[in-house]
Amino acid sequence: MPNHPPQNLIIATTGASGAIFLRHFLLAVERDERVQNVNFIASDSALRVMAEELNLKGRSEPLRHLLGAPASSKFQIQSNADIGANVASGSYPADAMVVIPCSVGTLARIANGVAAQLIERAADVSLKEKRPLVLCVRETPLNKIHIRNMYRAADAGATMFPLIPAFYYRPASLDEMAREFAYRVLAHLGLPQPDAFRWKS
Ligand SMILES: Cc1cc2nc3c(=O)[nH]c(=O)nc-3n(C[C@H](O)[C@H](O)[C@H](O)COP(=O)(O)O)c2cc1C
Repeated sequence: MPNHPPQNLIIATTGASGAIFLRHFLLAVERDERVQNVNFIASDSALRVMAEELNLKGRSEPLRHLLGAPASSKFQIQSNADIGANVASGSYPADAMVVIPCSVGTLARIANGVAAQLIERAADVSLKEKRPLVLCVRETPLNKIHIRNMYRAADAGATMFPLIPAFYYRPASLDEMAREFAYRVLAHLGLPQPDAFRWKS
């Protein structure tokens, strides 16, 4: 993990269930003044799942829909088809990348070095540059291919951070559950949130 709070994030989202987790992750990043740049990439399937889960209308302005307001200037949207975008190169100084939620299809491509679209290319770059890469994989049940691919990606340096929320703080709502999960990912990246639940036994 970087030894300073990461300022320049890549946030990618793919066609796995769990758009509410993405929403709370983006809301927390938008609020966090330590984060100065965000390159946001959505796969086509992510937009499809968002339409189902968050009633996203059309394919334009997913960030505005997710945040409930226009995104600040720190957000830059990249097309998943643009393999010439900034984050496709190791020379671009990204501090960390998070894929939330991460489909098992995207996991498979990352784990096997298939870098045809920008999300997988940026993940490939993160691994080769030894930068933090967090994969919030969501699928159930898992077959052996998924488990092998998780092992392969973890072995190459990625953090497997499956979309498995905690229950010991007794979340009162889905929003609270998703927010606390987002806070755990951010804390893992070196961006602890002041209002996160902390276990006191
Ligand atoms: C409503 C809906 C829910 C889905 N949920 C999951 C899921 O939880 N995990 C998963 O790996 N794929 C899920 N899929 C399938 C992926 O979207 C599909 O495999 C897609 O090709 C992934 O593409 P991507 O990795 O480029 O985003 C879901 C699809 C839909 C339409």
